[in-house]
Amino acid sequence: MPKFEQSYRVLRQNTDADARTLSAYRSAGGYAALEKAIRELTPELVNQQVIDAKLRGRGGAGRLTGEKWRIVRELDDEQKYVICNAYDADSRSLAAASLLERNPHQVIEGIVLAAYAVGASEAYLFTRSTFQAGTAALQQALQEALEANLVGRDILGTDFSCTITVLGANMGFMGGEETVQMALIKGRRGMPEQRPPFPARYGLWDKPTAINSIETLVNVPVIVRDGAAAFASVGSEMSGGTKILTVYASPESEPRVVEVPFGTTLRDILVHAGVTPTEQEHRAVVVGGAEGGALPISLLDTPFDFDPLEKAGAIVGSGILELLPVETCMVSWSMERSRFLSKESCGKCVPCRIGVKRITGILEGIASDLGVSGDLDVLDEFAEYVPDGSLCGFGVQATNPLKTAKRYWPEHFSSHIQEQTCPTGTCVPLRSHRFVTKHVLP
Ligand SMILES: Cc1cc2nc3c(=O)[nH]c(=O)nc-3n(C[C@H](O)[C@H](O)[C@H](O)COP(=O)(O)O)c2cc1C
Ligand code: SF4
Repeated sequence: MPKFEQSYRVLRQNTDADARTLSAYRSAGGYAALEKAIRELTPELVNQQVIDAKLRGRGGAGRLTGEKWRIVRELDDEQKYVICNAYDADSRSLAAASLLERNPHQVIEGIVLAAYAVGASEAYLFTRSTFQAGTAALQQALQEALEANLVGRDILGTDFSCTITVLGANMGFMGGEETVQMALIKGRRGMPEQRPPFPARYGLWDKPTAINSIETLVNVPVIVRDGAAAFASVGSEMSGGTKILTVYASPESEPRVVEVPFGTTLRDILVHAGVTPTEQEHRAVVVGGAEGGALPISLLDTPFDFDPLEKAGAIVGSGILELLPVETCMVSWSMERSRFLSKESCGKCVPCRIGVKRITGILEGIASDLGVSGDLDVLDEFAEYVPDGSLCGFGVQATNPLKTAKRYWPEHFSSHIQEQTCPTGTCVPLRSHRFVTKHVLP
């Protein structure tokens, strides 16, 4: 069993409301990393520590943060930017909101350290405008940090300056995508852009920009304060540190936020969150949020890490784990997911805009017992066509629900198609074959 207590480092530091103040954060070791970095370490050294710590981006793709920063740092431009992505595109994830509310000073320290490492003097924090408690806690902390000269001009009496501007929007899933955020910061319409060039080289106002998830950035003070080796000693071989997860014991239950080392098995995470999964009661665990894959209970010993999850068909994604009850028909489940995703697509690329809608339509037909065996081949085609032809990560991951439902529960599809029976007796036909028969063959 992993030592959760020992690695409970990001959220645990500030769990009660009083600990959001500057004095409480300082007495827990806060801002020691910033003082150390500015007074004793060069930006190169801070960057190298983040590389050695094996800190991977928590926003989904899992790129090595230090490698991304190195590109920004080594470019000659006078002006560079840092963006803290505190949006939580998947609205059922509570990670960004929890960090803003409970650890606002750690967020600020992480942003300022990132700016120091890459050579930026301006930073933006982009969040959901609905996170009112989190934004208020952050504004209060920013005021305190400004007064203590920990952010703003000539930080701690040195010639290093970093301002932080807070912006918010509420525009569904797309608001979390990096190029959308850069467009919104510039006051333009937000739609994903083609990459390369990546923001590290050609970002905000075409300047080198380090854009990172809020969860990635709050780890940076821990790395600088405790050292890269201590940080990397928690987690897996490929991914250093911990991950904040939002766990749902069922689709309707109240969420629980937990923090566990990378590499912890799905089973241990669920148990840690107070749920004991069983094959008698549960059909699947969905890993990665709205675009995540559904894994059978037999795969609960899969470690929570980028590569093992991808191999199983799931993703780190938005860090949500959700158990599905055993009554769930996976045709119906993948249909609901595809329907939701087709509404969230920005519509810029045809495969994502049309493909996810077509998948939804075919699944609606199968769930209504109107499917034919050829539908399965068409679904397989779409499952590849949509990710291959999509411009942003949304389309790349949009067919995970379909793919895992077909991969692990093929009998649910054949039961609907060949026997016109829902395997769990729960599907309500959207269109009735009796209705169709009556009118085609009067
Ligand atoms: C549709 C979509 C939504 C996203 N939403 C978020 C989000 O809410 N938070 C986040 O940190 N990254 C999100 N990302 C990833 C960001 O585009 C970007 O890769 C990330 O902020 C980089 O930070 P990291 O390297 O620390 O992971 C999203 C990506 C896509 C395609
Ligand atoms: S993949 Fe989908 S969400 Fe992403 S740009 Fe294309 S249409 Fe928009």
